[in-house]
Amino acid sequence: SKLIDLAVIGGDGIGPEVTAEALKVLAAVLPEDVKLETTEYKLGAEHWLATGEALSEETLERLKAHDAILFGAVGAAPGDKRIPSGLIERGMLLKLRFAFDHYVNLRPSKLWPGTTGPLRSRAERSPNDSGSGSSDAASTEPVIDFIVVREGTEGPYAGNGGTMRTGTDQEIATEVSVNTAYGIERVVRDAFERAKARPRRKLTLVHKNNVLVFAGHLWTRIFNAVATEYPEVTTDYMHVDAATIFLSTQPERFDVIVTDNLFGDILTDLAAAVTGGIGLAASGNVNPARTFPSMFEPVHGSAPDIAGTGKADPTAAILSAALLLAHLGHAEAAARIEAAVGADLIEREGAAARSTSEIGDAIRVRVAG
Ligand code: NAD
Ligand code: IPM
Ligand code: MN
Repeated sequence: SKLIDLAVIGGDGIGPEVTAEALKVLAAVLPEDVKLETTEYKLGAEHWLATGEALSEETLERLKAHDAILFGAVGAAPGDKRIPSGLIERGMLLKLRFAFDHYVNLRPSKLWPGTTGPLRSRAERSPNDSGSGSSDAASTEPVIDFIVVREGTEGPYAGNGGTMRTGTDQEIATEVSVNTAYGIERVVRDAFERAKARPRRKLTLVHKNNVLVFAGHLWTRIFNAVATEYPEVTTDYMHVDAATIFLSTQPERFDVIVTDNLFGDILTDLAAAVTGGIGLAASGNVNPARTFPSMFEPVHGSAPDIAGTGKADPTAAILSAALLLAHLGHAEAAARIEAAVGADLIEREGAAARSTSEIGDAIRVRVAG
């Protein structure tokens, strides 16, 4: 389609700051015959304080009409007594993920050049580093480029729980993880399809089936059953605790990971931290059936500790816009953003820190040129 009808939800804290930069880049990267139309939705903590609503049914209906949603982040600062903890996150963000059936929470990680994380020495020799000229070492270095397919609509996020003897010293709290065969199978199938389309064709199921026997066994059984339909995909299984070891020491072991909603949440912050930082990690809340718009957002939150300082890195939001473009069929524009980010990251190394808008401008100039 020649028109992209985009809903934009900046949200709270650094959310609007990084989203503004992503929009700049989006506007610059699109070919002339593609028109970008944006509708801003003011949601988040301030909206809740003003209206008492995190996300009204009416707004939900209006959001349905867009091609996709570009989202920043929501969430009040810890200790903000005006807003119950997690209320906006559950009432707006999770509500959207559930209502729009974003069952694939797609979170790619790669070791970008210029990374400052624990794998820095590897990034210096990484094949991603197209700026350092050719070196034979680069071609033999294992590639760190994996995606986490995090289930997005079930698990411990389902809100199935409660308390008994509430407020007493014998209080009991339950938080029941909901796992349906339907929900597992659709996300597992999606992960197999993605693995099949990648050069290494490897898929790892991450769970904790040695302890979480009911959900773990259902995941494992469905994973193994679907695997028989994908003989070209190599599969393995890893417990989530061990996965944290290998994600931080040998992330090249992974190609595609499929996992439960909560495990995926935790693993993808870790993956971000070791492959260049949380400021680079992009995500898509994808509805592969396209029955509702998909929503693209950085993995990070509203970062109240740096909001308003200009220190927020907009790269994750910019890369999320690239995922959005790829989802809408603009693969070439998406690739241009990725290339521009790669080049910008090389330039960042050893240079003075830049502000949110300086980084956004630099990437905008690169995609336009
Ligand atoms: P956070 O991701 O907001 O921040 C964690 C740390 O990473 C902070 O030190 C922050 O300054 C830093 N950071 C995050 N993004 C950055 C960026 N782009 N550039 C540079 N540094 C960055 O996580 P948190 O502190 O646990 O949560 C803060 C609030 O955000 C909470 O209310 C939480 O519920 C919410 N949250 C929202 C989302 C979302 O909207 N998708 C995701 C995570 C957390
Ligand atoms: C994320 C966030 C959310 C999650 C919160 C804010 C509900 O941490 O997008 O990773 O747990 O999914
Ligand atoms: Mn998270």
